[in-house]
Amino acid sequence: MSNYHIKNLEEYFQVYRKSVREPENFWEEVAEEHFSWRKKWDNVLSWDFKKPEVKWFENAKLNITENCIDRYLFNRSDKTAIIWEPNDPEEEAQHISYGELHKKVNKFANVLKNQGIKKGDRVCIYLPMIPELAVAMLACARIGAIHSVVFAGFSSKALATRTNDADCKMLITSDGSYRGNKTIDLKGIVDKALEECPGVEKVLVAKRLDSDIEMKEGRDEWLQPLLDEASDECEAETMDAEDPLFILYTSGSTGKPKGMLHTTAGYMVYTAYTFKNVFQYKEGDVYWCTADIGWITGHSYILYGPLANGATTVMFEGVPSYPDAGRFWDVVEKHKVNQFYTAPTAIRSLAKRNIEFVESHDLSSLKVLGTVGEPINEEAWHWYNDNVGKNKSPIVDTWWQTETGGIMITPIPYVTPVKPTYATLPFPGVQPALMDENGNELKGNQVDGRLCIKYPWPGMARTVWRDHERYKTTYFSTFENMYFTGDGALRDEVGYYRITGRVDDVIIVSGHNLGTAPIEDAIDEHPAVAESAVVGFPHDVKGNALYAFVTLKEVGESRNQDNLRKEIHQQIADKVGPIAKPEKIQFVSGLPKTRSGKIMRRILRKIASNQTEDLGDTSTLLNPEVVDEIMKDVL
Ligand code: WTA
Repeated sequence: MSNYHIKNLEEYFQVYRKSVREPENFWEEVAEEHFSWRKKWDNVLSWDFKKPEVKWFENAKLNITENCIDRYLFNRSDKTAIIWEPNDPEEEAQHISYGELHKKVNKFANVLKNQGIKKGDRVCIYLPMIPELAVAMLACARIGAIHSVVFAGFSSKALATRTNDADCKMLITSDGSYRGNKTIDLKGIVDKALEECPGVEKVLVAKRLDSDIEMKEGRDEWLQPLLDEASDECEAETMDAEDPLFILYTSGSTGKPKGMLHTTAGYMVYTAYTFKNVFQYKEGDVYWCTADIGWITGHSYILYGPLANGATTVMFEGVPSYPDAGRFWDVVEKHKVNQFYTAPTAIRSLAKRNIEFVESHDLSSLKVLGTVGEPINEEAWHWYNDNVGKNKSPIVDTWWQTETGGIMITPIPYVTPVKPTYATLPFPGVQPALMDENGNELKGNQVDGRLCIKYPWPGMARTVWRDHERYKTTYFSTFENMYFTGDGALRDEVGYYRITGRVDDVIIVSGHNLGTAPIEDAIDEHPAVAESAVVGFPHDVKGNALYAFVTLKEVGESRNQDNLRKEIHQQIADKVGPIAKPEKIQFVSGLPKTRSGKIMRRILRKIASNQTEDLGDTSTLLNPEVVDEIMKDVL
């Protein structure tokens, strides 16, 4: 039986059972079946969660770019690898074939070498969603340099911290970027950041805006002339299975960002195998993930996972609201997208807008819809299912993390029956455990606890860059011999998982353990509500009480706030229970979010608790202005 492509529920259970009973045989078969190795491994897995140390496919030799590009040259050279859709719909989309991608990556790899970059060197990439971003990452991988992509919406300070932490010798950027009807002076941000980064010797600059920028003599070089001169043949470096592939910083909700280090073979096998199954990708399909490559979702499911399957992957430079709120659906129609993968925050913002933006487009190409990044509330799930999926494209609610490298708990479309707001079942090879606060595993169904993983999987991060101790304390010290995810989850009567949110979002009110997600769900179901965030604040009697921050939909007349509060209370009492009624409900024009769209509950918690003198690190906020507004009107 082929393990590689799961086609029905019975097969899923068979494959899953095998992956738990004989994990090494299981992963060995997946790795042998579908990848190209220069040398096979001596040992499939060695691990010790106490140290922690995990090695997959030890002593195997490979290059990930040969798996993502070269092996398709023989029979799929003209097939489109990347469809690049620009910010402005009037600008022409690009179709980059596997053959062209090969040449581009080789040229770029030669430029890196000519500029003195060697295997193991770190290269910081600070680029918008233009083809050069994908090519730069693959070029690093081709020569064994470690890429550290920093999302091009981050500030100069965030860029400097990450560049220094990874000790990057080179930085790759562009003269600027487009974002809807705005342009952003990326090079200016880089110049400011590099005042604090003495280790960066070279800056390569791609041209996107053709804007007038300053080039620092001896440090900055335009990319294109270097590419024009470079050869389009570059032998791929032989990499060890456990050689580092990239560093990616996790969105810093607290303190210093963590540079998660991913290695070569395990990451490749895991992202490729999950991509194939979670999106049921078939030859000829067009797949689109709307994330930015600056996040793990983009690394794994725009670039590496799709290309390692010879897929056609869409890369979108723009935003969902430009030129109007129909842009996503316009792109789906234009490129006949078959699999569409986005985030709940995008769904909620589009659901606020006129339904005409969706209905005026032909979405009949869609077969699979995905969501990732935070718990999806029930209302958004149904909106997505009804209006985008027309009740026929299954939604895969995929739970995973930067640290896990790839999708961990997810339905397999057309295989696993879906259930709104449930990530459903573990992917083959993933052994979840729910733990209570005393470190005991909660067995059986209908339990609720802290989500851990008991056994290694190939895609897991191996360490925090140059801070192994932090890796150990953050992930392997809370529960013995377990990887601790930091999330809470429940397992229902049939064994389906629902992620209830970060464990630090659990609020204990009068001795009751309340997850914020179900309360927010109940609030969001009120027809006037767009989005909400619930946090705890100290309370004399209850220990903690709940504070809800609520944004309203665009409605014509203004509603009476006291009536709205009453209705919301009723809704919560009905859906969750009277215990979950918030003490305070504040109506706000927006919620503070990270640039990846996550609500920054940490800041809301401080505001609710009246600790506004120290809000902590706000440098990763997308909309700092709402924080002032919220503080001004605090109840
Ligand atoms: C949350 C994103 C509920 C979770 C790939 C996790 C989710 C964190 C889901 C990781 C989901 C991600 N349902 N919560 N389907 N997917 N999360 O590192 O709290 O940016 O720990 O990786 O997002 O975020 P990260």
